[in-house]
Amino acid sequence: MSTFYITTPIYYVNDVPHLGHAYTTIIADALARFHRAAHHAVGDHTRMLTGTDEHGQKIEEAARKRGLTPQQLTDDVSPRFSQAWQQLNISNDDFIRTTEPRHKAVVAELWRRIDAAGDMYLASYDGWYCVGCEAFYTESQLVKMPSEGDGWYCPDHKRPVAWVAKERSWFFRMAKYQAALLAHIESHPDFIRPVGYRNEIVSFLKSGLRDLSVSRTSFAWGITPPSNDPEGLPHVIYVWLDALTNYLSALCDVNADGTVNLDSAMAKTFWPEAVHLIGKDILRFHAVYWPCFLLSAGLPLPKSIVCHGWWTVRGEKISKSLPATRIDPVVLAKALANGAPLGDQIGVDAMRYYLLREVPLGNDGDFTLESLFARYNAELANDLGNLINRSITLLQKFGGQFPPTYRQAAHAESQRGLQQAIEDLLTTTARDAAAQFTEFSPSRALETIWRFVREGNRYVDMSAPWAQAKKAATGDSAAVEDLQLTLHTMRGLLIAIADLIAPVLPTSAATLLGWLGVSREPHWPAGAAALQETPALPWATEITPLFPRFDDATMAKISALVLPAEPAVAPVTEAPAPAKASATKAPAAALAPISYEDFMKTELRVGNVVSATAIPKAKKLLHLFVDVGEATPRSVVAGIAEAYAPADLVGKK
Ligand code: ME8
Ligand code: MG
Repeated sequence: MSTFYITTPIYYVNDVPHLGHAYTTIIADALARFHRAAHHAVGDHTRMLTGTDEHGQKIEEAARKRGLTPQQLTDDVSPRFSQAWQQLNISNDDFIRTTEPRHKAVVAELWRRIDAAGDMYLASYDGWYCVGCEAFYTESQLVKMPSEGDGWYCPDHKRPVAWVAKERSWFFRMAKYQAALLAHIESHPDFIRPVGYRNEIVSFLKSGLRDLSVSRTSFAWGITPPSNDPEGLPHVIYVWLDALTNYLSALCDVNADGTVNLDSAMAKTFWPEAVHLIGKDILRFHAVYWPCFLLSAGLPLPKSIVCHGWWTVRGEKISKSLPATRIDPVVLAKALANGAPLGDQIGVDAMRYYLLREVPLGNDGDFTLESLFARYNAELANDLGNLINRSITLLQKFGGQFPPTYRQAAHAESQRGLQQAIEDLLTTTARDAAAQFTEFSPSRALETIWRFVREGNRYVDMSAPWAQAKKAATGDSAAVEDLQLTLHTMRGLLIAIADLIAPVLPTSAATLLGWLGVSREPHWPAGAAALQETPALPWATEITPLFPRFDDATMAKISALVLPAEPAVAPVTEAPAPAKASATKAPAAALAPISYEDFMKTELRVGNVVSATAIPKAKKLLHLFVDVGEATPRSVVAGIAEAYAPADLVGKK
């Protein structure tokens, strides 16, 4: 059927969004746009959800370090996510925060159901806890880092884990569901995908499941469980049980008396179709804990858990705790737009294209500006940009005198072959790309579409409308008809391409349709039918290149804007943060003097230059790593290359 419900993880509000968060959210958005366009004829059967994860020890600690209450911190940071998604053209239908009453009510209801099934008991527990993961670990899961000192480290966060001394908590009988979950995975081959991640979970399950501690008493920032502890200890619900429930709570109705309806019309429609798109860091929570909770509560399982890999920068996972890796997606998109007349949204499209095209979903990928610029220039500026520019220019030049017309039989044998070939290729392209989007392979869908874009360019080369026009001008009636067919086909190809690229490049697609005089929304199937479409309006008389080619100077400028990646909020994982770290960074363009109050919020630090390197092709810039007493040196680009040689700077303060 055509119902599609896609979710992203809800992101922790201990910091502002980075490129890793944007990646998941953009994939989800592109898939949602594809499904909406594909079901345009049957109405709205697509839903996309994202939001923020706001409870737990990690958030409580982050707030304390900034001298805020947890509620203040979450109210400050959650909107940064929703705003970033707006700026990146994300079409989510809902945005859920776990501090909302509608969510808390559903978590409490889920707890009650699990309790009613006899799956909650009180016991005490001790173990290694990673606050970064919000999870307990056994020693066999931890790593040693001899360079850092003794003790156990979280394999993911590379930070020391903390020993939680015997703490009384509620336990969930997770082990009870091991066999049922394995059976479900066996009988639903698409439950966890791609298949490598499925295998990982199957072997984890086969190695044995243990019951799970699902409440904590050592801190307070969380939802209170509805069960009573006879010893009267104040518990809060384990943040993962709380957070995972968002996917369901966003679909439920809360009644006036505070009770919830898990059977709401929305839940009925969308819940069984749920697709959880996640990064591989949180696979186990989604593919093991969450289904076990649902099985216990007697609720249907989601349809699929789709897992992608990690983006790295210089080989390090992009993460909050590594400032040098934290690329701000909004800054990157704006830099890529490079002041384009079509606005920053063109930069958003370019970034979306690169992220989705560069790495097959499931794999890891190293983010480099070199690979981004290479794809931009070859695939956006050259393949797509050229086809659009030359086709519309030719339409403008000849179309007035020789209106585009579809002529089945009139043209010569040679052109008929060319015509048939491009029509057939369009049909298979639309079919294959639709299948690839449906199968969660946006990278392959784009590859398929770009093969067609390149064939579109070849079609123009081979039909050579400029030569046809020369002959047509002499009154050669066969040439007139050939030219009219060519113009008609070029326009049709562009309409089809707008439909094909729209899920990933929504602004480009809308701009292109506008230029062609097509007043409808992009839709699928995006196939040969577009070749027969007659736009309602005349084509544009003026266009600007969608993706102007980047020259060396532009690339150097963009690099300097993007790579410093200075944190917008002082990272919480670092050495003692100042009492009130400034939450905002003044943009370079803000020239008005700051107030005294703002000045008092600033923190001035003297740092040691650890390394300095020239930036190729940038005369004025040096790339420095500066140690300001944090976990890792800051990466800074400084406009001082004309005054200092790199070697002279190392060791300077
Ligand atoms: O884990 N590469 O939130 P979180 C690719 N609140 N994707 C990345 C990434 C990277 N380097 N870094 C982050 C949490 N992501 C929980 C989730 S869900 C019920 C609760 C993306 O803020 C990726 O989707 O740590 C990853 O799973 C998610 O951000 C983790 O975000
Ligand atoms: Mg994380």
